[in-house]
Amino acid sequence: MNQISIKKLIDLSKKPALYEAGESLFWNDPHVAQQMLKAHLDQSSDLASYRLEKVQEIVDFCCSELCLVEGDTILDCGCGPGFYCERFNRKGLKVTGIDISENSINYAQKSAANKKITVNYLCQNYLYMNYTNEFNAVFIIWQDFCVLNYSERIKFLTHVYKALKPNGYFVLDISTPRVEDNYNESSTWSAHESGFWSPSPHLVLENLFFYQDKSIRLNQYLVLEEHRERVFRIYHQHYTLVEITQLLSDQGFFIKAHYADLTGKVFNNDSQTIGIIAQKKNK
Ligand SMILES: C[S@@+](CC[C@H](N)C(=O)[O-])C[C@H]1O[C@@H](n2cnc3c(N)ncnc32)[C@H](O)[C@@H]1O
Repeated sequence: MNQISIKKLIDLSKKPALYEAGESLFWNDPHVAQQMLKAHLDQSSDLASYRLEKVQEIVDFCCSELCLVEGDTILDCGCGPGFYCERFNRKGLKVTGIDISENSINYAQKSAANKKITVNYLCQNYLYMNYTNEFNAVFIIWQDFCVLNYSERIKFLTHVYKALKPNGYFVLDISTPRVEDNYNESSTWSAHESGFWSPSPHLVLENLFFYQDKSIRLNQYLVLEEHRERVFRIYHQHYTLVEITQLLSDQGFFIKAHYADLTGKVFNNDSQTIGIIAQKKNK
């Protein structure tokens, strides 16, 4: 039986300093990776990917908004199981999809082969990509940009800038602080015979913490199993339109258009997300 002391338990469940790391690379934990893939494919929720109907709407909207034409090249960062890559390829685009999860890339490759679709899938960390002048558009969808800390987002934007052709587009969706209007810091225990974090019996203490006046959220999961305890931390930065405009401008982009999401819904001050079409500035 796990002999963890109450004192250690209390310490592990405390609010950490902002961006203090937890377990690393849980995308490639074999069990968690399978659970993530299941969540991507689950059409009853938008938890890991938007439902396929919305994915198609996003692809249709972006192709028309960006005037993408057959033969144009695009890069999908954090492509997961390849929902966007496949649909962009069907529009005649040359598509590269990169993702850090080997499990998701394997699924995406098999799915493309079954459908006789050609996508260049790579299992790679997008913080280390190295493309120059290759793409008409680069995408990062499902608010994945929000999980990057300050130095990571600068690094990522530098790579995106370099990867784009002159006047190329950078397309992303992000959350706004409005998402947290109805939430307070909280702490919840749950017990599982088997679950998302482990195939074995385990307890989970989930803490919701906020930083910087709710502009950053931390979902912290303390997972207690028979012989080990692990802490997973997922930080998420929300942006106002002013903040994201400034950040993108500092890194060489201007916002060509913004919406409430990437299907083109109209943005207003109550919107919980922003869909952004940014364009590379000529230096
Ligand atoms: C929430 S999912 C969204 C997947 C996809 N964009 C979609 O909407 O279906 C985030 C994806 O980003 C990938 N990911 C997270 N960090 C990454 C990194 N540093 N480099 C490449 N992929 C990453 C994960 O493996 C996961 O597939």
